[in-house]
Amino acid sequence: MQPLRGTKDILPSETEIWQHVYDTARQLLSIYNYKEVRTPIIESTDLFEKCIGNFTDIVNKEMYTFNDQSNRSITLRPEGTSSIARAVISNKLSLNNQMNRLWYAGPMFRYERPQKGRQRQFHQLGIECIGSAKPVADTEVIQLADKILTKLQCKEECNLELNSIGNIEERKLYTEQLIKYLKKYEEELDKDSQRRINTNPLRILDSKIYRTQEILNNGPILKNYLSLESLKHFEQVCKSLDYLNIKYTLNSYLVRGLDYYNYTAFEIKTKSYSHQNTLCGGGRYDNLIEQLGGPKTPAVGWAIGLERLMILIKQKLNTEIINKTIYIATENLYDINVIWDVINILEKYCLKFELDITDTTTRKKIKKASKLGVKICMILRNNEISNKQIIIKWLDTGKQQIVNFSNLDQYTDYLKTIF
Ligand code: HAM
Repeated sequence: MQPLRGTKDILPSETEIWQHVYDTARQLLSIYNYKEVRTPIIESTDLFEKCIGNFTDIVNKEMYTFNDQSNRSITLRPEGTSSIARAVISNKLSLNNQMNRLWYAGPMFRYERPQKGRQRQFHQLGIECIGSAKPVADTEVIQLADKILTKLQCKEECNLELNSIGNIEERKLYTEQLIKYLKKYEEELDKDSQRRINTNPLRILDSKIYRTQEILNNGPILKNYLSLESLKHFEQVCKSLDYLNIKYTLNSYLVRGLDYYNYTAFEIKTKSYSHQNTLCGGGRYDNLIEQLGGPKTPAVGWAIGLERLMILIKQKLNTEIINKTIYIATENLYDINVIWDVINILEKYCLKFELDITDTTTRKKIKKASKLGVKICMILRNNEISNKQIIIKWLDTGKQQIVNFSNLDQYTDYLKTIF
């Protein structure tokens, strides 16, 4: 039996890294007073149609939609922002102009062609800063993405791309000019872009096809259609990012695949070209909540694709976790209670350990630990135990020390400081 195409089991060898990501994000986000929100995985289909846009790929061809027993059209959420906008309205969270700083993590569903970094059930970690139109909110959320990636030690492999896509009127004006220009070259455009001229012309800017890009290079530029207010907002965001020393690239072709954005749009891409490389996508969406029937509530946020993040950090973090595990190798002991004494001390110092209770020789156990990449092995043998001692072997250097039981607490305290 295999899992459904585009879905995967997340096995114990990986869950520890997933938990590390959640813990890292949760700790940081709670300092900034972001609170976790959990919305249902199923929502009414029209929520996503209204929010994401009828002409987007997501709504057009990627949604998992079915009719329930009462013949209601239900969709497995393809993203989190629409559900959160709905939750803000349903629960009147924006009453009295209150700010809501929210974060969420969980599975999303899109019927896409599976490949490395692209699944049909995937996971997002996202934040939404709801209730402020100020550029400082844009900078806050971008800074948080940057900090999370820094803490997860993968920032060096990432590039932040930034654009301002203006407001609805500005975009409408620009889109008219873009269509007019592209119509002249319609025959030369790729098939997708030809289709998009009449449905979602802005997405053509995102085309990876060389000839289409060449045509776009001489076409109208979105920036030239932005009002002073839009430009000022964007300039302020960029200035703050400069102050925070957060590097970014301006990409005037960056448009997002969902319709609800205005002003700032951004993506964090990995430098790898071997697989789907957009790690994080986000932007400002000032009209979404009002459009859904709620009060006018400006907002900005992002979501990181966790499977894509795992590709980046798995190896490094796995090694780190193994390095920090203390292996306990025992022979057949006359008095097994010594095991509990050693374990108690490790627990006291919150040191992770693996007690090898397989039926093999101590030598084979040590070899196994070495192969796993463990650094420190505590060896319990009758010989030393009768002298109230244990052996501590540093597997990376081969160095071996005999430690008296009476000193084990102090020694473990030292181990804690080097981890
Ligand atoms: P999105 O760009 O559609 O934005 O998705 C965000 C991230 O989810 C992507 O950058 C990617 O890492 C990941 N992702 C998307 N589709 C897949 C897939 N099929 N397999 C694996 N990973 C995938 C949103 O969803 C917006 N709701 C983000 C946002 C939040 N904007 C404002 N607030």
